[in-house]
Amino acid sequence: MPLITRRALAAPALATLAAGGSARAQGAFPSRPITMIIPFAPGGPTDIVGRLLAESMSREIGQPVVVENTTGAGGTLGAQRVATARPDGHTVLLHHIGMGVIPTMYRRLAYDPVGGFEPLGLVTEVPMTLVGRKDLPAANLADLVALMRSSGDRFNLADAGIGSSSALCGALLANAIGAKPTVIPFRGTGPAMQEILGGRVDLLCDQTTQTTEYIRGGAVKVFATPSRARIATLPEIPTTAEAGLPGFEVTVWHGLYAPRGTPAPVLARLTASLQAALRDPRVVQRFTEIGTAPVPQEDATPEAHRRFWMADIAKWKPIIEATNGYAD
Ligand code: MLT
Repeated sequence: MPLITRRALAAPALATLAAGGSARAQGAFPSRPITMIIPFAPGGPTDIVGRLLAESMSREIGQPVVVENTTGAGGTLGAQRVATARPDGHTVLLHHIGMGVIPTMYRRLAYDPVGGFEPLGLVTEVPMTLVGRKDLPAANLADLVALMRSSGDRFNLADAGIGSSSALCGALLANAIGAKPTVIPFRGTGPAMQEILGGRVDLLCDQTTQTTEYIRGGAVKVFATPSRARIATLPEIPTTAEAGLPGFEVTVWHGLYAPRGTPAPVLARLTASLQAALRDPRVVQRFTEIGTAPVPQEDATPEAHRRFWMADIAKWKPIIEATNGYAD
C-alpha cells in the first residue's frame, strides 16, 4: 500500500518537475550574466556606446550585461568570438559600420561575417570628425590637405585597423586628396586618441562619441566632419563639402547581434531589452551630449537592422573593390 501511494504521488510530482524544468529551460532567459563583446579597445567610441547600453540593459533584463573588449584585426576578432559562441543569447556583439565593410574587405576570415549573426536591432548613428594634434601646422581643411600632400609619409594618420571606421575614413580621405600618409594602427581609437593628445600622431578621423569633449576642451584641432550636414551639438565645425572636399562622407552606424541559431524567443527578449535601453532617459541624455541619438524604436528591430546592414554591404562593396581596399 505505501508503495502504491508513493508511486501514485511520484508520477504527478515528476510530471510537475519536468514541466517546471522545461519551462525554465525555455523561459528563464537570461539564466546568467550576458557578455557584450566590444571589438575595439576600452575608452573608445564603441566601448562608450556599449557600456551605456549594457548598464541600461542590465537593469531591465535582470542579469548583469558585462562588457568585454576583444580587440584586434580591425574588429574581426571580437566578431569572430560572437559568431562562434554558443547561440543561447548569453553572448552578444555590439559592432558598427565594420559589419558593412568587413564582408568585402576581408576575403579570408575564420567566421562567416554575415551568416554567423542574428541582427537584434540598430542602436545609433554617429558623425565623425577629423581631429589633429593641437599643434598641427594647419588652420583649416585646405591647409590640412596641403600639409598631407606635401609631407608624404612623414605625415601620420592613426586608425583602428582595416575594417574600422577610422581606417575607412582615413583611406577615403587619403584617396580623395592623393596623399600617402603613414598609417599607424591601434586596437581602437581610444588608444589612438591618447597619441593625438600626446602630440605623437598627426591626425585621426573619429566619432563624436569620443571626440566631442576633446574638441570642446580645445585638446585637439578639428578640421571638418565628413557628414552631409553639420553636427547639431558642434555646429561650428564645417562639413567636408563646405570646407572644399565634396563627395567624402562617412557616418558610423551601430547594431547589436547574437550568434546565428539563437532561439527566436531569446532574440525577441534581447531586442526588447535593447529597445528599452534606447528609451532610457539616461541613455538618451548621454547620447545627446556626445553628439548622437538612439535610433527610432522601429529601427531597433531585427528586420530594420538586417535591411540596413545588407544595404550597407551593397553600398561599400563597389567602393572597396574600386579602391582595392582589401585587408589581404
Ligand atoms: C573604436 O571603438 O575604437 C572605434 O569605433 C574604432 C573605429 O571604428 O575606428
